[in-house]
Amino acid sequence: MDQHQLTNDHLTIETRALGASLNRMIAHTPTGDVDLVLGHADDADRPTSTYYLGEVVGPVANRIAGGRFTLDGVEHRLVPNDRGNTLHGGPAGFSTRYWTLEDATTTSTTWSLAWADPSGAHPGELEASITYTLHGTDLIHTITVTSDRPTLAAPCLHPYLNLAGQGTIEDHVLSVAADAVLFTDESQIPQGDPVDVSGTPFDLRRGVRLGDVLDSPHPQMTPVAGFDHAFVLQPSSGPAATLTDTASGRRLDLWTDQPSLQVFTGVGLSGDTPGLTGTPYPDRGGVALEAQMLPNAANRPDFGRVRIDPEHPSRSTTRWRVTV
Ligand code: GAL
Repeated sequence: MDQHQLTNDHLTIETRALGASLNRMIAHTPTGDVDLVLGHADDADRPTSTYYLGEVVGPVANRIAGGRFTLDGVEHRLVPNDRGNTLHGGPAGFSTRYWTLEDATTTSTTWSLAWADPSGAHPGELEASITYTLHGTDLIHTITVTSDRPTLAAPCLHPYLNLAGQGTIEDHVLSVAADAVLFTDESQIPQGDPVDVSGTPFDLRRGVRLGDVLDSPHPQMTPVAGFDHAFVLQPSSGPAATLTDTASGRRLDLWTDQPSLQVFTGVGLSGDTPGLTGTPYPDRGGVALEAQMLPNAANRPDFGRVRIDPEHPSRSTTRWRVTV
């Protein structure tokens, strides 16, 4: 089975075996159907894309500095795929595999994957799964990883939102419940401690129209023409993030049990492989909201635990609520 659809009165989602991707999320609105996430019309465009549209990335999302980490005193050297670092599981990560449809009901789809690193560098035989559940206006996704021995695992879903269904996200307002953000070096590895967002363009706590901030001359923003940063989430009962398309009023609220949200505003998307409409998306054609562990936690014990072992698997849940 290469794809599966779930549908209710509010939403239809299409997930695909390749990368267990959330390839389409369609809102049924009073004025018709609108695609809310970026995807590919043809799976053949995924292997050469460098944007991970809607894919499950892992075993460890985001960057591992130098592609190296030490576990129980042994150094492991992964295959790098991003300026000397290992990004989103490297060249043979979860997103490159065809997952198996494990279970499907009228409200949920579960894809599973048995994964071992072909280079032999990442320890363990891993079993990953993602369950997508539709519940009214909500999409909930839970990702789990188990392993036969101690290893690292901290995958995430890598969806790009555009609630207008077309164009760029410049007319979207984004709020993120984060008092701090991680600043990065030239190869995008976080440096130092989280930085207070107060008085910077990274202060999204009260909501900012993206078009008003993305061209900021802030030295952290110019290299990526916007955001490509991990926001450190405040534990709160409210949403971790809210995205609103100002023209239509469509809104997406996100809750997660993960400690950070990588916000990537889609620089360079226009050079990528074709999307759902058969042509590449424009630059800033979507904003990736990636609920995950902190980047490079593999080498930063102060960033939280990404180690798992047979008794302590990894499990994370994120909920999206769509209001049309
Ligand atoms: C993001 C990452 C970006 C870029 C993007 C995919 O998660 O932070 O630097 O690699 O994925 O192209």
